[in-house]
Amino acid sequence: MRVAVLASGRGSNLAALARAIDEGRCAATLAGVLSDRASAPALELARARGLPAIVVPPSAHADRAAWDEALARAIAQLEPGLVVLAGFMRLIGPATLAAFRDRIVNVHPSLLPAFPGMDAPRQALDAGVRITGCTVHLVDAGVDTGRILAQAAVRVSPGDDAARLHARIQAAEHALFPRVVDALARGRSMDEIARFEEGEAPRP
Ligand code: GAR
Repeated sequence: MRVAVLASGRGSNLAALARAIDEGRCAATLAGVLSDRASAPALELARARGLPAIVVPPSAHADRAAWDEALARAIAQLEPGLVVLAGFMRLIGPATLAAFRDRIVNVHPSLLPAFPGMDAPRQALDAGVRITGCTVHLVDAGVDTGRILAQAAVRVSPGDDAARLHARIQAAEHALFPRVVDALARGRSMDEIARFEEGEAPRP
């Protein structure tokens, strides 16, 4: 299955997905990477693999609706069976949602529905939870509200700051995300995937 990846930043989840594909642990094919930011390191990773690296900057469009439509067109050019958000820091609009209904998944650094939106590891520390983690979910019109497909737990350690906690959450993401993409690429149903038993991520 061809997978289009949307990423705004570093791209460590993209790198983990690419590694899983290279090592035969994920049955997907990378169709290309799209970003809202021309400087996103994730685009470099795509270029290094000879993949399309496409920038759709909001500033180049008259309004949010025009940007959303341009994004939907750019994704469609890659002819993906699945669209994955790997650190894509913008809300997906109605044109993109309609074009890829139930075919967009996101990875988020908390156990949703706790701590949606920005700075989820910071939110977890501020709330004083002892366990947080990551979630892979379907994308709908809300902020991190779509159907949960899989989760992995990560323990909060004494003395954690947001960066240290996020690094351990990301290690859990790097294991979980390619597994879910693999299951979707193999045509597993959402119900089957939602029944995954996730072990706890290793303690530091
Ligand atoms: C990941 O931890 C992902 O869960 C988070 O951004 C990071 C991107 O890292 N996404 C969100 O917070 C979305 N709400 P990466 O660029 O290294 O993959």
